[in-house]
Amino acid sequence: MRPRRSSKRISGTVICCLLACLAFWNLPQAWGQTFISGKVITADGKVVASGAVALEKGELHNDAFLAGGAIGSDGTFKIPLPSGGPWGLHVYSEGYIYFPLQVQIKAGVDNEIPVVLPVDGNPGDDPRISNIRFNKISDQVFQIKMRVDDPNSNLGPQMLAIDTQRYRSYRLAPDSGDLKDKKADFPSGEYGSPFIPLPLDGEDLNNWLFVVADHQCSNGPIYSGVNQSVLKPPVAHAEKLKCEVAGIWKSNFDKVYQFTPKQAGKFSGKQFAGDILIDQMAQTENNVTMEFRLKGVKGRAELQLACPENQIRLQGSFQLPERSGEWVFAKLQNAKATQSGQDLFAANCSGCHFTDRKVTKVGPGLQGLFKNPKLPKSGRPTSEENVRDTIVNGRGKMPPFKHLEDLKIKVLIDYLKSL
Ligand code: HEC
Repeated sequence: MRPRRSSKRISGTVICCLLACLAFWNLPQAWGQTFISGKVITADGKVVASGAVALEKGELHNDAFLAGGAIGSDGTFKIPLPSGGPWGLHVYSEGYIYFPLQVQIKAGVDNEIPVVLPVDGNPGDDPRISNIRFNKISDQVFQIKMRVDDPNSNLGPQMLAIDTQRYRSYRLAPDSGDLKDKKADFPSGEYGSPFIPLPLDGEDLNNWLFVVADHQCSNGPIYSGVNQSVLKPPVAHAEKLKCEVAGIWKSNFDKVYQFTPKQAGKFSGKQFAGDILIDQMAQTENNVTMEFRLKGVKGRAELQLACPENQIRLQGSFQLPERSGEWVFAKLQNAKATQSGQDLFAANCSGCHFTDRKVTKVGPGLQGLFKNPKLPKSGRPTSEENVRDTIVNGRGKMPPFKHLEDLKIKVLIDYLKSL
């Protein structure tokens, strides 16, 4: 938890393994598809309005780039992935330091990841792309070439072309030969993509994005396939930050946290890309206590929620057996408003269940569910536990809803109680 200067050295080790992965997968389906999504905010309190996202399958920095997409003018991205498991997430926006993060993706759901980009204090040393060319190899195959230059000669292996319509990313290698050691400084010069198995004729080159990064996590301008910068200046935060614990926070140790309400005065907490596990969080008036483990060692924090002039902060001290210190969290984003029970029911259950009748639609009508001592189909005792079990695990022809978070199931059960 040692404080780190907000320098450019965020990237971890860069490991070698270039894969030209040409496998295809289906484009987004409505249900059960795996997504990664997020909203890209900046350490200076803005929302980015342009940029690119690239994903490596497996470990971060293995260079197996496979998926990718664009950041929209509202700062959000949403990219379908062919599978769950570990992925390396890279987010780039001009003027900010790029953001590498190892993420664990849950299959079949939308995985939301908060992204906070540090300001690039030294844009003068950013690498530059020029002369992007698409070369037709055959009717079904093309290749991409571009030139890369870097004023301070510390290019990394990330030279990327991103197909934002098919959600794919490709790594370009130096024409002079790819380097085995991906930690070495890559040369300025010409770079080429692997063969891309798509017809070039009719392709809209505006849908392709190009980005390169150096070993200090700097990226320069992001270009489209027609050699134009896609920069749109970041915009001020649209939402007014609420003076409450729920939401996304950044600590003085440069880590990002998400605090989610569990029940009155209790929260669950999650640290992104770090070593801290939060076991318990409780709030009484403005006092917040947190029990956590740092690499298995138990610690405790006593914090105060304070909100002078819309500067939403949680501030106090932490204690570990071996040390203690100041812990300050600045709020970056409000918690997403939870859907109402009625909305959750409409989205997940109404296709199969009536709420105002006892007759069967596909499953039994749920009117008066909690007023009956027995559940309508199984005859098991009506209890929160048994209904939760039905929702999470499914029954007979009813599918399981394992992807619904605890809080949503709770809101849904409260709604069922009102029927
Ligand atoms: C695809 C159709 C379908 C969907 C969607 C569905 N259900 Fe069901 N549900 C059923 C069927 C069929 C049964 C009867 C299961 C059985 O055979 O025991 C059932 C049974 C139930 C029961 C009674 C269980 C018992 O022990 O008697 C409850 C409560 C229930 N569903 C709630 C929900 C809720 C809440 C949702 C939304 C999160 C939902 N269902 C979504 C089809 C569905």
